[in-house]
Parts: sequence; C-alpha cells; structure tokens
Amino acid sequence: MAGLYDRPDLYDPVAGDNPAALGFYACLAGADPALVLDIGCGSGRLALPLAARGHLVTGVDASSTMLEEARRQAQAQGMQMTFVDADFRELNLSFKDFAFAFSATNTLLHLKADDDLLSCLRAVARHLRNGGRFAFDMFVPNPQILARSPGLPLPIATFQHAELGPIQVEEDTRYDAPTQMLAAAWTWRGSNGRVLHRAEFALRQRFPDEVMALVSISPFRIVDRFGDFAGSAFTPDSQRQVYLLTTD
Ligand SMILES: C[S@@+](CC[C@H](N)C(=O)[O-])C[C@H]1O[C@@H](n2cnc3c(N)ncnc32)[C@H](O)[C@@H]1O
Repeated sequence: MAGLYDRPDLYDPVAGDNPAALGFYACLAGADPALVLDIGCGSGRLALPLAARGHLVTGVDASSTMLEEARRQAQAQGMQMTFVDADFRELNLSFKDFAFAFSATNTLLHLKADDDLLSCLRAVARHLRNGGRFAFDMFVPNPQILARSPGLPLPIATFQHAELGPIQVEEDTRYDAPTQMLAAAWTWRGSNGRVLHRAEFALRQRFPDEVMALVSISPFRIVDRFGDFAGSAFTPDSQRQVYLLTTD
C-alpha cells in the first residue's frame, strides 16, 4: 500500500487550493520580508506563495516525493527557497533565528503520541528567535466522522488529472477511541471505477483541551486560538482549531 504523500499529483488535487489558509498564514508572516519556517511543507502549497510574497521560506518535510515536487515548482518559478528532508520532531537546522513558523492543514495530526507533539513543539521553539511565533491548525474531531461505519466509503473529491483523466476519490475510515486514532484509506478511481491508486494513513484526533494542555507544558504560550482561518473566535461550533503561540 502506497503512502499518502507518494504521489503529489494525486494528493494535492484532493487537498485543493486553500486561499483562506494562505491568507491567514501570510497575514501572520507579515508584510515585510521575514524568515519563515514551514513545518510539514508538503509540495510547497503554502511555502511557494509565501516566498513569492518576498519571505525567505524554509520548508521541512519527511516525504522526498513531496519535497521533489516543491523543489521542481520553486525552480520553475525561479524562486530561491530551502527545502529540508527531515522529521520535524527532531529538527536541528544550523539556522535557528526564524521569526515565524507554521504547520498547516492538519499536519500535526500525523503525530500520534503526546510526546511526538511535544517533541515537535520543542524543536520548533528551538528554531525561533526570541519572541518568535508559531501557528498551526487542525480539525476539531468531528463526531459524525468518528461514528462512521468502516466498509462504507464516501466520495470526498473529484478532479481532472492531466494524464489519467477524470478521477473520483473515496474515503473509508475507522476510529479507534482508546488511541484516538482515525485510520483512513483513500482510493482514487478513474473512469469505469477502475482503481488507480490507494493509500492508507492514520490521524490522531486531538480534542481542543488536550492541545491546550500540551502547549502549556511546551516552551510556548498561547497568544490566541481561532475557530477558522478568518480569525473567528473559537466556539463549540468551530470545526477547526487554529493556534497562535509565542516563545516570549
Ligand atoms: C497534510 S500534509 C500538509 C502539507 C502542506 N502543509 C500543505 O498544507 O499542503 C502533511 C505533510 O507533513 C509531512 N509530515 C508528516 N509527519 C512528518 C514528520 N514527522 N516530519 C516531517 N514531515 C512530516 C508529510 O510528509 C506531508 O507532506
């Protein structure tokens, strides 16, 4: 079974463009050129447009195929960017004076254990200058998704692939309450329903209170918590938890 990030040409269209996320992180990076660290940059979906706005962006990811795509796009756009193949829980770059770091669109849900998330928070803090800020977002666990019956896949995306034609993607999930892990399988089907690709992955479900508790024992303090990328207040109806942290 392939990994979720082995095929950027199949993964990225499912993730889709996210102008709201880009606007949010761009606003936090600021109007002036800043040293920015993208934790789990993938194929550079946010890192590239931030660099295009004049920021000096370093992207870190553990997927060589996603990084290859990010480097290819940076080169095609004539942008000088740094992409590092590393596990962000153990990040140790020689440069440790970033003004702003971010980890976008559920990336930190790949960290299964509390210690994984804490290691990541500590590693990011070590790479920020005094008073630097770190922002990240993740879904609020959705009871309807957690209650889904396995074996009943649901369509989650359709898109047109340049070589493979029209593609429909379906998702099958199984939630394990004791470990708070949501195991997911995505299947990409071409016309006639033929299976083109399958990937399995698991996302730790993080309830808001436990994120707050983990941050409270990390080097960070919470500056703000929002319910979406528009900066709305976090409420019981929020579907996303968006954190802004600082080290000062
Ligand atoms: C949900 S994707 C998001 C990619 C990008 N931030 C975006 O919004 O398009 C998560 C990314 O995190 C990377 N990743 C997951 N766990 C990682 C780890 N421990 N160290 C480095 N990268 C990791 C994956 O390879 C993947 O590219």
